[in-house]
Amino acid sequence: MAFDRPIKVAVIYYSSTGTVFQLAKAAVTAAEKAGAEVRLRKVRELAPEEAIASNQGWAAHHAATQNVTEATLDDLEWADVILFGSPTRFGLPAAQLKQFIDTAGGLWAQGRLVDKIAGSFTSTATAHGGQESTILAINNTFYHWGAIVVPPGYADPVQFQMGNPYGTSHTSNNGETMPGEVELDAVSFQVTRMVEVARAFRAGQQALGASA
Ligand SMILES: Cc1cc2nc3c(=O)[nH]c(=O)nc-3n(C[C@H](O)[C@H](O)[C@H](O)COP(=O)(O)O)c2cc1C
Repeated sequence: MAFDRPIKVAVIYYSSTGTVFQLAKAAVTAAEKAGAEVRLRKVRELAPEEAIASNQGWAAHHAATQNVTEATLDDLEWADVILFGSPTRFGLPAAQLKQFIDTAGGLWAQGRLVDKIAGSFTSTATAHGGQESTILAINNTFYHWGAIVVPPGYADPVQFQMGNPYGTSHTSNNGETMPGEVELDAVSFQVTRMVEVARAFRAGQQALGASA
């Protein structure tokens, strides 16, 4: 029995210089192609205007994405699939994403984040600058939520090219290099796999008579 409504995907990201944003947009396109209903949401910028203005790439990206809707807790509750994207900051996710995550205590306490299909992706300046540690740090949150972490693994040939089984990662040379075909294909695969797993899981819940 097929699940009776489209899978709902929230792609929630933070990006200063736009490389995570490019991955997020590719994820949206792929999820829609996989038949999902998708929300693209940026988390609120917390840095002072003078910090943003001091970096040309940051200022340009900030201005260019003014029309992207900011994430709210409703996006988390609404979604079957939650995909977080963040640049690496000293081996960890950006504070802007963490701040948003830290507003989810009420949802967590009510069990509203249980059984979400979840994953994450990142962008770093250098290949060994913390891609895995950032993704694993984000994913730690999902364990607390009782979410179901669905990693890309090496479940598609593109993963052998992209090379990170924990989640899509891009090496940007400090925002100078935008994601290429391999990274965009990898994040597309990652979210498509999450949609397929969510669909199978929800269909199974429905078949068993659980509330979906
Ligand atoms: C405060 C700060 C800390 C950073 N820490 C790291 C790091 O630990 N490792 C790394 O490779 N890059 C680090 N970077 C670089 C960014 O992660 C990298 O440029 C990333 O691709 C930016 O993504 P964005 O274009 O979506 O903003 C750091 C950048 C800033 C501003």
